[in-house]
Amino acid sequence: MSNKKELHEIFTPTKPARLTFVERDKINDKLVNSLRTPGKQLIVYGHSGSGKTTLLVNKLHQLYEFHITTRCMQGITFEQIILDAFDQLNPFYTEEIKSETSINVSAEIKNEYLGIKTKINSSFSEKETSVKKRVLPPQLTPQALAKFIGETKACWVIEDFHKVDEEYRTLLSQIMKVFMDMADDYRTLKIIAIGAVNTARLVVKYDREMNNRVSEIMVPLMDKVELKEILVKGETLLNIKFPDEIKNLIIHYSNGIAAVCHNLALNICISLNINETVEKEIEVIHDSFEKALKTYIDESSDSLKEIFDKALKLEKQTKFDNYKIVVKALSFFQQDGATKQEIFQQIKKEDKKYPSSNLSFCLDKLRKEERSELIKFDEASGKYSFYDPFYRVFALVYFKNVVIKQTRKKNVYDEIPEINLVEKMYSQILEELKKVKGDLKLSG
Ligand SMILES: Nc1ncnc2c1ncn2[C@@H]1O[C@H](COP(=O)(O)OP(=O)(O)OP(=O)(O)O)[C@@H](O)[C@H]1O
Ligand SMILES: [Mg+2]
Repeated sequence: MSNKKELHEIFTPTKPARLTFVERDKINDKLVNSLRTPGKQLIVYGHSGSGKTTLLVNKLHQLYEFHITTRCMQGITFEQIILDAFDQLNPFYTEEIKSETSINVSAEIKNEYLGIKTKINSSFSEKETSVKKRVLPPQLTPQALAKFIGETKACWVIEDFHKVDEEYRTLLSQIMKVFMDMADDYRTLKIIAIGAVNTARLVVKYDREMNNRVSEIMVPLMDKVELKEILVKGETLLNIKFPDEIKNLIIHYSNGIAAVCHNLALNICISLNINETVEKEIEVIHDSFEKALKTYIDESSDSLKEIFDKALKLEKQTKFDNYKIVVKALSFFQQDGATKQEIFQQIKKEDKKYPSSNLSFCLDKLRKEERSELIKFDEASGKYSFYDPFYRVFALVYFKNVVIKQTRKKNVYDEIPEINLVEKMYSQILEELKKVKGDLKLSG
């Protein structure tokens, strides 16, 4: 076969998929329209791992000549964000890119850019002795930045904007406003702010008057059909065959999270020594799925421990070990989770006096980053479930091995004794697989 592809370019659990990119039909039209509409600003949001970055990387590749991307970290200041964008434009305003592109920046704007660059550099060297902090010169206004970006026919992607301090989120909306107003001069100019959150307003705070010039796009977790397409694309590219049963198992264990799907498929190929497109079609056998599962658990067990420690830690001296009670109750349910009421009933079986307000509070907290985003909530079904299906397996094993001590009026969970988590999780999964396989066959 002449067109060999590397395994790591096909199944990509830790980077945006390109070769196996699956179109997101439910939101594609809205996204493409917004990207094409001059002056339209975008806020793209959704669960971590839902595929925001991948979707944008692929769509911008199709629709835009250039884009610049600023990644936000906790504590980043607004000045740093602006300076980052400014720096990334540098190649367009020096000789570097000129020859390969159709971009033609006017001499006047180029001089303005270089002038500001000199200012920034000199402010930097003046302060070099103390703190190395670059200062935003007054000339680098939002209008100026918009002009510099607009001239290059690029758009500006700001990743993980939810990490930016709240005070700056209104500032961004003001810059968006400037970008809107300059769309007459620069038709491609726009900001795309991305955040791993439940609502667009948590990404950017903006005024009502901007409503119809800002497009809010929610990227949902993947459905079964989309996940299957990743596997089908991978099969074709590698010249291998996943039997339907294995496809169904991978999809089942991915539970909407494409990264898990990529990861399991990758591990299967590795266990079969497939590193690139094979000459003669290989059919994947069941054994390799189980091996892949084990590898996956093995690789994630340390981080799973950390995730759970963060999610379950005791806040202060409270009557109930709240987080453990709630998570334990949730683990009794199937992967698609349970409603608040159902979880409450489950808790009551063990503790009749548990207040429902504690449950509400914990469910809320457990959806947040501060508690590892251990669970998610599905609006459509009204159910809470573990964010990652392997969290549920971990929880099951964890609570099977944890002892509850009664000390005076309190229930205290004793820390998990040293057990072999990997082995236990693995046998838990195999046990479940026997059941699931039957169900998957029935459902199709
Ligand atoms: N449309 C898609 N087709 C194929 N694979 C995808 C698709 N979208 C996402 N993936 C895969 O899913 C994983 C997560 O995707 P991505 O990083 O884009 O999510 P995200 O929403 O940006 O996450 P975060 O909020 O953590 O930044 C990656 O392994 C990526 O390759
Ligand atoms: Mg991302």
